[in-house]
Amino acid sequence: MGLSSSIDVDRGKGVRRIQVAQTQHIEIMLTVDIIAGARPNFMKIAPIVHAIDADQSSIEYRLIHTGQHYDAKMSGDFFTQLGIPEPHYNLGAGSGSQAEQTGAIMRGYEQVLQTKPSDLCLVVGDVTSTMACAIVAKKAGIDVAHVEAGIRSGDRTMPEEINRLVTDAITDYFFTTSAKANESLRTAGIDDSAIFFVGNTMIDTLLKNIDRLRKPDFFDEQSLISGNYIVITLHRPANVDKPENLATMLNAIAESANGLPVIFPVHPRTRKNLEQLPQLPECIHVVDPQPYLQFIYLVKNAKAVLTDSGGITEETTVLGVPCMTLRDSTERPETVTMGTNELIGTSVSNIPPAMQRLLAGQWKSGQVPPKWDGKTGARIVEILKQLQAASQTRTNAA
Ligand code: UD1
Repeated sequence: MGLSSSIDVDRGKGVRRIQVAQTQHIEIMLTVDIIAGARPNFMKIAPIVHAIDADQSSIEYRLIHTGQHYDAKMSGDFFTQLGIPEPHYNLGAGSGSQAEQTGAIMRGYEQVLQTKPSDLCLVVGDVTSTMACAIVAKKAGIDVAHVEAGIRSGDRTMPEEINRLVTDAITDYFFTTSAKANESLRTAGIDDSAIFFVGNTMIDTLLKNIDRLRKPDFFDEQSLISGNYIVITLHRPANVDKPENLATMLNAIAESANGLPVIFPVHPRTRKNLEQLPQLPECIHVVDPQPYLQFIYLVKNAKAVLTDSGGITEETTVLGVPCMTLRDSTERPETVTMGTNELIGTSVSNIPPAMQRLLAGQWKSGQVPPKWDGKTGARIVEILKQLQAASQTRTNAA
């Protein structure tokens, strides 16, 4: 599209209005490829898909599922619960090493573009699918829009950080969740005209579904009481790939939980390693990966969440649930400076004092970051329309 001006947007420095010529002779549809591959992508694309459907304007989309996550529990359930339509294409990439997965996604998406190109490739988040499709699109001469651009953990041992750096290096339109992300992009030399501070699509999905959460089946079976259990999620290689590290962490959590039940929905990656452990502490209840509405029900009613995920720290911030991040860095610092999240680290000795503060009722309360208000999908679509209008104006003038 080559569209970096003639629009009306908030780039984190207040709204600026720049005139777009009104004369339109030829109606051009903007075809956007929306890429989704892994579980955390699905709640990020849902509001964008719904906003395009509601708008019925000159934007059409092709939903492309890379197949990075393929189990019903990691993928299908999310499409059903969040009302995401069937993908137009499923690339069937599946599991494998980072390079195998990247290669399979790139080959699949390249074939799609060779058969029928699009105008814009919209990627979300930081998973392997995000980076792989951005590279393919850019090399095919198609502009890239990145939703959740500009966030950085500074930890290059995480595959997600490499995915963020590579994706943002070739992105044309940066949709951001925070002032800090805007700053990181400016520091990296990105022009203000390409940065669009729109808020957080994951929070759109949270707020949209907050009144239709579902109690998981096991909740009553295990006699769980709202506000009186802990939820943990662990799947980062650093925490789960060595069974002995996983065991040490789970023991530390169990010992400091003071008898509270600890609910542990396990990611397939974690389950493989969990199966190698002799015995888990009695208070830890392992359950399958939960569908979205059940998982958020669990989180909303928990006393606290301990996690190595990034997205969950955003959800706990909005829900006001205490959160301990079992990592040494975060790419979402606003969840710590404004929200209920604390960076506990990967050293298990940090867990007991944090749990003591929690159980003594001394956890901080937080605030919701700006623009995490449920309207981000609509903002993104509005900007896409303005970019489209500017493109159309240029086409007509040519
Ligand atoms: C990926 C993302 C991570 C995200 C996480 C959420 C990257 C680099 N990482 O990590 O940022 O937080 O998803 O879930 O993209 N598996 C299944 N069924 C599935 C999917 C995976 O059994 O549907 C198993 C496979 O054995 C696979 C392993 O889980 O090898 C890991 O999956 P993979 O997609 O490689 O990375 P995640 O750890 O899920």
